[in-house]
Amino acid sequence: MSQPLLSIDNLHVRFARSEDEVYAVNGISFDVYENEALGIVGESGSGKSVTLMSSIGLLRENGKISSGTAHFQGKDLLKLKPRQLEDIRGRDIGVIFQDPMTSLNPIMRIGDQIMEAMLTHRYASRKEAFERTLQLMHEIGIPDPKSRFKNYPHEFSGGMRQRIMIAIALACEPQLLIADEPTTALDVTVQMQILALLQDLRRKRGMSVVMVTHDFGVATNFCDKIIVMYGGQIMEMARTDQFIRRTAHPYSIGLKRSIIEVGHRGKEILPIPGASKALTEEPVGCPFAARCSFATERCFQETPALRIYGEDHHIACHHAEEVARHAV
Ligand SMILES: Nc1ncnc2c1ncn2[C@@H]1O[C@H](COP(=O)(O)OP(=O)(O)OP(=O)(O)O)[C@@H](O)[C@H]1O
Ligand code: SF4
Ligand SMILES: [Mg+2]
Repeated sequence: MSQPLLSIDNLHVRFARSEDEVYAVNGISFDVYENEALGIVGESGSGKSVTLMSSIGLLRENGKISSGTAHFQGKDLLKLKPRQLEDIRGRDIGVIFQDPMTSLNPIMRIGDQIMEAMLTHRYASRKEAFERTLQLMHEIGIPDPKSRFKNYPHEFSGGMRQRIMIAIALACEPQLLIADEPTTALDVTVQMQILALLQDLRRKRGMSVVMVTHDFGVATNFCDKIIVMYGGQIMEMARTDQFIRRTAHPYSIGLKRSIIEVGHRGKEILPIPGASKALTEEPVGCPFAARCSFATERCFQETPALRIYGEDHHIACHHAEEVARHAV
């Protein structure tokens, strides 16, 4: 197989707080290849955003990468100077942030914001950038680009603002798009439109995508490969078809069940009993043990390694084989 475009290896991230530390990411490793779409799912606080943002140099001041590496096209991102990272971000790696209102500049016309992305990275001359901006606005479904160019973010709906974020992220035709919950705040119809748009752009440009989402259904529909995270660790990682057919991690099974209930029977999402909490101590044992109906003494003492479970399928569970037998 060819070299991965993005390769994260054994990443650990901690945050200092006034009284304690948060062990947000605890040994994450994965690769993203050309033309591949990877979906990262998991409930709130599982470390999805921190994993991605820290690997591209966007970590809050109280955060620290305590170990691990992140390579993009063979370059060690964690060793680059801020200026070099800034250059890669936006030009080679497009980023759609979780909250469009905090990422768009409220006092700058949206056309200028898209153009600025191209000019900052010397991707195009001013004239070319203007033409390309209109073209991009058209491509992402903003009607009448010439007149909308002059509007400010508050003059757009949530769905349109999200489209503008996508246009900014795609302005320099990046090889990799990192999309952190690109559709969470939107209603289902707009969400579907935006995902279809991203899928279309991905095919046209041969771009790779890493998409973070709460929504298991969105991930399985859009992505070639799925990672399920919990407690800052990977619980299951598999090619999507394998994942759908052979899910074997108790946490993933819970997520899958919730989507089946919603998708096919119109019932409410069945929550997985218990709640996750911020990890303020170095994790010992399986992070899901307190909520897992299959947990044994071993689960509380020994952290399960992410091991091969089948072709293109990895799982971090001591009892995956037994869980799978019960799940059928
Ligand atoms: N600056 C910070 N200081 C302290 N803790 C933080 C900080 N940023 C994130 N965390 C903690 O790190 C953990 C992982 O956060 P992260 O934002 O990656 O979660 P997430 O999976 O993206 O959740 P969501 O689905 O809600 O976006 C959480 O427990 C969070 O509270
Ligand atoms: S390792 Fe144990 S606690 Fe963790 S998911 Fe598997 S069975 Fe449950
Ligand atoms: Mg997040």
